[in-house]
Amino acid sequence: MTNKYAVVLAAGQGTRMKSKLYKVLHPVCGKPMVQHVVDQLNKLELNELITVVGFGAEKVQDQLGEHSHYVVQEEQLGTGHAVLQTDHILADKKGTTVVACGDTPLLTEETLQKMMDHHEATQAKATILTAHAENPHGYGRVIRGGNGQVERIVEQKDASQDEQAVQEINTGTYCFDNEFLFKALKGVSNNNSQGEYYLPDVIQILQNQDEIVSAYQTTDFSESLGVNDRVALAQAEKLMKQRINEMHMKKGVTLVDSDNTYIGPDVKIGQDVIVYPGSMIEGETTIEDDAVVGPHSMIKDCHIGAETVIKQSVATNSRIGARVKIGPFAHIRPESSLGDDVKVGNFVEIKKAVFGEGSKASHLSYVGDADVGSGVNIGCGTITVNYDGNNKFMTTIEDDAFIGCNSNLVAPVTVGKGAYVAAGSTINKDVPAEALSIARSRQTNKEGYASKLNSNKKD
Ligand code: UD1
Ligand code: CA
Repeated sequence: MTNKYAVVLAAGQGTRMKSKLYKVLHPVCGKPMVQHVVDQLNKLELNELITVVGFGAEKVQDQLGEHSHYVVQEEQLGTGHAVLQTDHILADKKGTTVVACGDTPLLTEETLQKMMDHHEATQAKATILTAHAENPHGYGRVIRGGNGQVERIVEQKDASQDEQAVQEINTGTYCFDNEFLFKALKGVSNNNSQGEYYLPDVIQILQNQDEIVSAYQTTDFSESLGVNDRVALAQAEKLMKQRINEMHMKKGVTLVDSDNTYIGPDVKIGQDVIVYPGSMIEGETTIEDDAVVGPHSMIKDCHIGAETVIKQSVATNSRIGARVKIGPFAHIRPESSLGDDVKVGNFVEIKKAVFGEGSKASHLSYVGDADVGSGVNIGCGTITVNYDGNNKFMTTIEDDAFIGCNSNLVAPVTVGKGAYVAAGSTINKDVPAEALSIARSRQTNKEGYASKLNSNKKD
């Protein structure tokens, strides 16, 4: 087996984005561009993946974490210079090295694999991934000789009129024989209109040495989209969204209005799930069969059980069981866990709370830092009073308890199994199991008092 390495170029500032955020960290469908590239490359079972970082080095490293090794390019002197920064790690290794840019988020593992197969089959020392572009402006053009052989790549700014008319572009992704790559890189100069050391110049150097240089042309231009500005960013977003949505629809998910449905690249959705318009499903979310999401729901990093319905609501980093009904207008905040058959109705906020099977908070409640058993009914307007201005405290509501409307449960407090809390109570002591607790002032009725008040009225 040939050793496989990958180098991801991500040191540039991305001036054309006009942004405080470094270019490769701009998200496409909720995931930073460079993470898309690294995730696809890592599917190739590489011996090592190295990301070249420079501008925003720390932030890029925070994002990619252990999915990559890193080298720093102190000064951004060009893509060739960027690859050279990995010299001390890779130069004398035998094997194949893929080089990709951190700003081509639509690149897929399948295409990378096809390029590598082509590289092997043609026994080339370098293979360029190329594409046919309707509008090639801005890309490096692939210049072929009379026999169709790839000769060199010329950058937009260095291209003659004739060269600018060429529509075959360099996608910025390549495959090299590792040792030949590093030897050739030492011969790259910065004698060009941008004064940069261009990685694509390696092609001409190898070609001049009579080494085999080949090109693998992808049929899908979208894969090669290089995002240099926000116009391209919006294009990438649209294409990625289309790709993700089509994948789900082909697997049996109904997207009622695909154009208005936003699903992240790592989301998993079961069969016969229906997603209504205006919904965003992001992060590491999994949705089981027959669930219904939306319209207008935002879900991030959640597990959602089968047949659960989430209407016009927000749920983050939580576990939601099967046949749960959420919304409209509910907010499930992080670290919550809702058992099967739970109901969380309109204007209910749940934070860091566990709900056992079949428990309900149907209207206008706040349940935070709470452990709610199963079969509990939380009446309209109930509040777990969890915060004294400094610390947070837990409320425990045991199985089958009934909390009357407009109650305050001042934590730390426990309402025992099967207990009742009368409506309007402010509970600050534990309620024993099976008890009824009433904590409100008694009502006094003063008969005939209205006429007394009326007689005192002036005019
Ligand atoms: C590059 C290619 C071009 C190709 C296009 C595909 C060169 C000279 N040109 O142009 O042929 O058609 O990509 O999208 O390679 N970077 C560094 N260090 C540097 C310079 C760049 O790490 O010193 C990184 C950038 O962060 C970026 C990637 O390399 O992720 C590509 O650089 P960029 O400036 O976007 O190159 P393009 O002009 O798009
Ligand atoms: Ca680019």
